[in-house]
Amino acid sequence: MGAAPHRYVAQIARENGGFVRFRVLHRSFVACANAEAIRHILVGNHENYPRAFHSLNGVVVFGNGLIFNEGDGWLARRRMILPSLRTESVHGLCAISNQETLKILDEWQASSLAGEPVDLLLQIHRLTISVMGRALLTSGVDREESDAFADAIRESVILLRQRNRSLYNPPTWVPTLHNRRLKSVQRTLDGFIERHLKARESMPEVDYPDDILSHMLRVRDPETGEAIPRGDLIVETKTLFAAGFETTGASLTWCIYLLAKHPEVAAKWRQEVDTVLEGGEPTTGNIARLEYTAAIVHEALRIYPPVHGLSRDALADDEISGMKIYAGDTILLSLFGVHHDPGDWESPTEFRPERFLPGSAWKRESFIPFSVGKHRCIGNVFAQTEMLVALSLIAQRFELSLPDGFEVGEDAFITLTPNRKIPLSVHARPRP
Ligand code: HEM
Repeated sequence: MGAAPHRYVAQIARENGGFVRFRVLHRSFVACANAEAIRHILVGNHENYPRAFHSLNGVVVFGNGLIFNEGDGWLARRRMILPSLRTESVHGLCAISNQETLKILDEWQASSLAGEPVDLLLQIHRLTISVMGRALLTSGVDREESDAFADAIRESVILLRQRNRSLYNPPTWVPTLHNRRLKSVQRTLDGFIERHLKARESMPEVDYPDDILSHMLRVRDPETGEAIPRGDLIVETKTLFAAGFETTGASLTWCIYLLAKHPEVAAKWRQEVDTVLEGGEPTTGNIARLEYTAAIVHEALRIYPPVHGLSRDALADDEISGMKIYAGDTILLSLFGVHHDPGDWESPTEFRPERFLPGSAWKRESFIPFSVGKHRCIGNVFAQTEMLVALSLIAQRFELSLPDGFEVGEDAFITLTPNRKIPLSVHARPRP
């Protein structure tokens, strides 16, 4: 459990027919890796299963924003923020993703010339933080300030990971080293967003830049007519950052890692990108025709779902497929387990993007990287657009490889990420 919680939960659930009960100290847990049961918990009887006590760590680090919120105001807030992430709103995202990916790829070009590998996860995190930053806040801040913000976001995720690993976290007023670091990153994050808010408040509304923060400033609750309170704007901006950059970053990193390990898949990927884009820029129009590349993204999300599990607390007794659930149980829903169920996926550990090509038969309930039900991800189009643009530009410019026999392990304490540096060799493709 300590070394690989995602694998442990999936394995004990599978070995016991999809469900198993276990205790840690005074708490009773039920591990679940059964697609139908997960649907029951997240959709059929969701009122009985609010987000579990675990999300309190997230609230301590990032505040009670949309990804941790389970209270009365959650639905209204979701409805207010959702339109800013809908397909029609993410058109600007293609241009942002193009520009930010090209900046990273210029660095890859230099590494290619020098024969030096790139640090894949670090590079991709830089990319997803800058894309998220521009989509949320536009730019217009100096480089040093946004770098400090990016460092604070990364540090917050490290602190959240530490809290999730620890069996006991002293209250935040106790001046431990951890708590002092937490206060310091919170000051940096809040101060940064505060400065953006102040800048917006000093301009007429018509001059607001076209970004998610402007949307959140303008939007009104359709029932009460109220705006999002100022303090909540800061919290929601931080949580969107956190929800969007690490997950997409992990997923894109896994895609590239898998492509570097499977040259035969990479060859088909480059061929598709060359044929569909004809050397041009990825746009919302042409990336929709990249069926094989989209299948690669789906297959990476299946093998390495960044959100590998969810937890929910049972409010009342229930029974699922003969398994008794008691009020107070914490259910660990293993998305990883469902994605690796040999009953639903042939050779589940193998990387086979063909599974997701149009016309292939696969069980919809057994592929849930963005979850289902009322809390399903509102950033899925955003994430997939960003990944398709980045993968297109990489395919056009580079061939990828890893040292012989290189394997990376998994760290699953928040999102499922590689557990160490991936030294990716990039070889510039000849320009057509
Ligand atoms: C590959 C990338 C991503 C994956 C795998 C992913 C996965 C998920 C999952 C599984 C949930 C459900 C959490 C729960 O039930 O407690 C979720 C919720 C959420 N995601 Fe994502 N996500 C991704 C990218 C993004 C992006 C880019 C954004 C924002 C720009 C975002 C914003 C959110 C928000 C706000 C929620 C909470 C929704 C609610 O509770 O109403 N996600 N995501």
